[in-house]
Amino acid sequence: MRAVPTEAIPLPPPRHVAIIMDGNGRWAKTRGLPRVAGHQRGADAVRSTVIACRELGIAYLTLYAFSSENWKRPPAEVDDLMGLLRLYLRRELAELHRNGVRVKVIGERQRLAGDITALIEEAEGRTHANLGLTLVIALNYGSHDEIVAACKRIAERVEAGGLSAAQVDETLFAGHLQTVGIPDPDLVIRTSGEQRLSNFLLWQAAYAELCFIDTLWPDFSKQHLVDAIHEFHRRERRFGASSG
Ligand code: IPE
Ligand code: IPE
Ligand code: MG
Repeated sequence: MRAVPTEAIPLPPPRHVAIIMDGNGRWAKTRGLPRVAGHQRGADAVRSTVIACRELGIAYLTLYAFSSENWKRPPAEVDDLMGLLRLYLRRELAELHRNGVRVKVIGERQRLAGDITALIEEAEGRTHANLGLTLVIALNYGSHDEIVAACKRIAERVEAGGLSAAQVDETLFAGHLQTVGIPDPDLVIRTSGEQRLSNFLLWQAAYAELCFIDTLWPDFSKQHLVDAIHEFHRRERRFGASSG
């Protein structure tokens, strides 16, 4: 009897997959193209990854689209990235909604252009009751900003007298993060061979399995996602306990 390759066996999907989509610039560079071409192809990979997550039955997908540090890039590149985001939200919203995807955006919105904030609000508002995949887009997101903002809000509540310091625990703290209501990621994937978190979900990924793959983001496909899920299932998650 021929053995079934493990890769052919369907596996229960992790509930929440988070992806650091890295390598657009290098993808373009190796082809002699401008960086924006890599970002454009990166947007195509976003589209196909959302479809793959729906097909695989993943409940939450968080995509790191723009970090709070990415403003350090040349203004023209920032404009290109914001332009692609506009395009994505305008073009994809109807289809996302039709497919039952619930869109949520985390990150600091004040620095974003007004029309982008409006598009985000429209996407979140229109899709908020959907029961399919929750797509979380991390935009102008940085964990340090998020954690400091949570500390400030908690300190203000304590100052106002509505809360005592003794009441501050993990649950209360997590409730002040932008990811409130979203389960912690089970699997964090970073493409392009870099092995760091770059200020992404530092609190929430405390016990996530980390999967670093060499593929550049524009080349990321459903098969890479399936491979990462197999890798996830090969790991033994202990959460601090002894191995069984
Ligand atoms: C990821 O690709 C896109 C963003 C960070 C917005 P990069 O633009 O970082 O690509 P590399 O790392 O320079 O190849
Ligand atoms: C992380 O990628 C941010 C996003 C993918 C949006 P970067 O390319 O900005 O990260 P560093 O600079 O290599 O750490
Ligand atoms: Mg990069």
